[in-house]
Amino acid sequence: MRSMIDATPTDEEQNHWQTLRTLSGHLWPGDRKDLQLRVIVALVCLVGARLVSVYIPVIYKDAVDALSPKDMALVLPLAVIVSYGLARLSTTILGELRDFVFVRVSQHAQRGVALNTFKHLHHLSLRFHLDRQTGGLSRVIERALRGMQFVLSFMLFNILPTMIELVLVMAILSYYFDYRYPIVTGSTVVIYIAFTFIVTEWRLKFRKEMNDKDSAANTKAIDSLLNFETVKYFSNENHEYARYDASLAGYESAAVKSQRSLSILNVGQATIISAGVVILMYMAASGVVAGDLSIGDFVMANTYMMQLFMPLNFLGFVYREMKRGFIDMDKLFELLHVDAEVQDAPESEGLAVDGGRIEFDHVTFAYNDDRTILDDVSFVAEAGQTVAIVGPSGSGKSTVARLLFRFYDPQGGAIRIDGQDLKSVTQASVRSNIGVVPQDTVLFNDSIGYNIEYGRPGASEEEIAHAAKMAQIQGFIADLSEGFDTPVGERGLKLSGGEKQRVAIARTILKDPPILILDEATSALDTHTEQEIQQSLDEVSRGRTTVVVAHRLSTIVDADLILVLDGGRIVEQGTHAELVAAAGAYFSMWHQQQRVQEVQAQLREIA
Ligand SMILES: Nc1ncnc2c1ncn2[C@@H]1O[C@H](COP(=O)(O)OP(=O)(O)OP(=O)(O)O)[C@@H](O)[C@H]1O
Ligand SMILES: [Mg+2]
Repeated sequence: MRSMIDATPTDEEQNHWQTLRTLSGHLWPGDRKDLQLRVIVALVCLVGARLVSVYIPVIYKDAVDALSPKDMALVLPLAVIVSYGLARLSTTILGELRDFVFVRVSQHAQRGVALNTFKHLHHLSLRFHLDRQTGGLSRVIERALRGMQFVLSFMLFNILPTMIELVLVMAILSYYFDYRYPIVTGSTVVIYIAFTFIVTEWRLKFRKEMNDKDSAANTKAIDSLLNFETVKYFSNENHEYARYDASLAGYESAAVKSQRSLSILNVGQATIISAGVVILMYMAASGVVAGDLSIGDFVMANTYMMQLFMPLNFLGFVYREMKRGFIDMDKLFELLHVDAEVQDAPESEGLAVDGGRIEFDHVTFAYNDDRTILDDVSFVAEAGQTVAIVGPSGSGKSTVARLLFRFYDPQGGAIRIDGQDLKSVTQASVRSNIGVVPQDTVLFNDSIGYNIEYGRPGASEEEIAHAAKMAQIQGFIADLSEGFDTPVGERGLKLSGGEKQRVAIARTILKDPPILILDEATSALDTHTEQEIQQSLDEVSRGRTTVVVAHRLSTIVDADLILVLDGGRIVEQGTHAELVAAAGAYFSMWHQQQRVQEVQAQLREIA
């Protein structure tokens, strides 16, 4: 993923456009005619409100003219005054109506973006997630949604209405006066906007400095208080005061600079507006003197200028916040454009399992280019057979399991299930046919029952209880006062390693897949529990093709095929009897473990 830091300005602008396009797709959802209607109604309200609002000065002018001494009829222009009030009221009502109608659209868009992101994150490869911090990801989403809210509301409720109003005012000015009036108004607005953007851009660095200094001072203070005892041990209070004060001084001067630059912005803006207003007033006044314009016209010109510049007052703030909102959204949408590393081939079909014969055909794999993890690995697990993988830590046993589950694609060779290359079938179909009891089980922060049911959502209570029984965990659950409803804590940390492992076994039993992968499924269990569970596992794996990664060789003596992996290569393969007879690597591992067991048995006897 390209980082935002080294993005050139043009890249950034391109990103903004891309972001806007993605966003507008969410604001105009093709499948939701009702939301599209809402957008139209909101826009009608928005334009309507502006139309009424630019008409107000015209009414105002009529009132002023009616009161002019020239031909005063001494009749209060009541109708005009009442319509003035009604016009003001209706702009407010239309504005509220617009918000009321539109809120559903913007909330729906936010929901859509959040859901899409969530889906996309699940779609991305394991590698992406191992490389990223989950906390960082959720912050990106949160910030982007806030930015989206801001950008949407200011675009629609501040910038767009002001632009519409500007166009309308310029049209009215050229209708009631002459072409010079809209030119002066338009140029003033353009100069004002340009000035605001330039100065705000310049001011950003003071604000950044201010924020940096602020967090620096905070960090110092917290660190100092955390080290309270250390400070006392060395009587270094004065040193601490000086350090904290130095940080505060940095903040102070940054804040002063920021405030000073704000004043420059405000004074500059006011100067531009005043200059524009003066020029326009001068033109209108000369018109009145020459008898071409009425007093009402003079008042109207002034009112338009004021009405137009009022919303522009916030422009600096809006610009800054919009910019930040866009950057936050860009980050999110950039994330959405990260392609998943493992992808379904176009028009790939579901895996059709018939027996579940697994074939690794000269498979070569590396997580990173610099180190080959699996080197020319070939083996076959016939339908229904159990294949065991043994070997030292780091030799690539779990990697074989991950490739079979298609968390990664191998760089060389092919992996086939019942003759179908994993790359040519959908990932979902592969995964639904394989049950995995992983080496390290992580549980959802919910109840034990929920975590077991996760194997097959919707399973009945009897089925869950049966799976728990098969996994030898029903006794433990029965002892708990809350039973299946007992919470397991974050990541399952309230359970012991062995209990977690048995929950993982139970949910895989519930999933009931034709192919099983057991990656050291019983490594965290004591010998006694392991033996009990081993019977269940043997029973479960009967009739299913099973890949077992095992540390204790005694658990795999009955396997149809044993692969000895070392440094990513298969150094030996055969049945237990064959490998023992071959007197190679497996033989020595076996003897070593046998000896250990004998010693343990002797120790038990002595004790
Ligand atoms: N995501 C990853 N990125 C880079 N290297 C990895 C990754 N996962 C594993 N490795 C490396 O690949 C090698 C094989 O790892 P693997 O997990 O397959 O070993 P293992 O045989 O299962 O070991 P153990 O018996 O300790 O579980 C190790 O050297 C490991 O450091
Ligand atoms: Mg492993």
